[in-house]
Amino acid sequence: MNHYEQYADVAFERHGQDTRVTAYHPDLELHGIGRSAAVFRIKATRLVIKVFFPGYTHIAAEEAMIYRTLEGLPQFPGLYDAGPTYIVIDYIEGKTLFECLIEGIWIDPAYIEQVDQALIAARRLGLTPSDVHLRNLILTPDGRIYLIDLARFRQGQQIDHQWEDLKRMYRLYRLRFMPKRYSERWLNGVAYLYRTFVNDPRR
Ligand SMILES: Nc1ncnc2c1ncn2[C@@H]1O[C@H](COP(=O)(O)OP(=O)(O)O)[C@@H](O)[C@H]1O
Ligand SMILES: [Mg+2]
Repeated sequence: MNHYEQYADVAFERHGQDTRVTAYHPDLELHGIGRSAAVFRIKATRLVIKVFFPGYTHIAAEEAMIYRTLEGLPQFPGLYDAGPTYIVIDYIEGKTLFECLIEGIWIDPAYIEQVDQALIAARRLGLTPSDVHLRNLILTPDGRIYLIDLARFRQGQQIDHQWEDLKRMYRLYRLRFMPKRYSERWLNGVAYLYRTFVNDPRR
């Protein structure tokens, strides 16, 4: 299982609110950066390694446990390895729903239904899903939705209502006269206002 540990040796640098990646193994390709970790594709595989920033490394074990609980469910990546600062999971080809909105890719009601079904399945396994938002949902080219970034599915934590709020917004989005494409700046602005005035789970 320890084959992937060499890839977890990533150098990070903090710049104010942002964390940047400054050095990593040549077998890796930087794929995405979140608020707690950097995600790299492992070349010549169908896997990614999520390496947590200093100060967030405790999340690795928590997130690994959630992936183990959800093992076999179709709407979640499989877990391949986990260590003190990282997890290795399936690479999900596609675009986050956030990217879909920027590119004007239609978000179908069937995708919303898939998320709801995945959340029901996770709750049945005793988890309490939270932090479900547009950047943590990936749409694959064949129209399937995957949920990622699952640390805040753990039991006994304070849950948020982001997904319920997003579904309310979705009712607006579906109206014929509403735009189906938004600038990244605008979406980030809305997300900022939402976190500040409505709901910030990290505060
Ligand atoms: N398994 C995956 N397959 C493809 N892309 C992924 C995968 N996991 C994460 N990503 C990309 O990396 C970004 C950051 O990962 P995420 O797990 O959300 O980190 P954080 O906990 O810091 O928010 C995601 O928004 C997504 O774009
Ligand atoms: Mg995320």
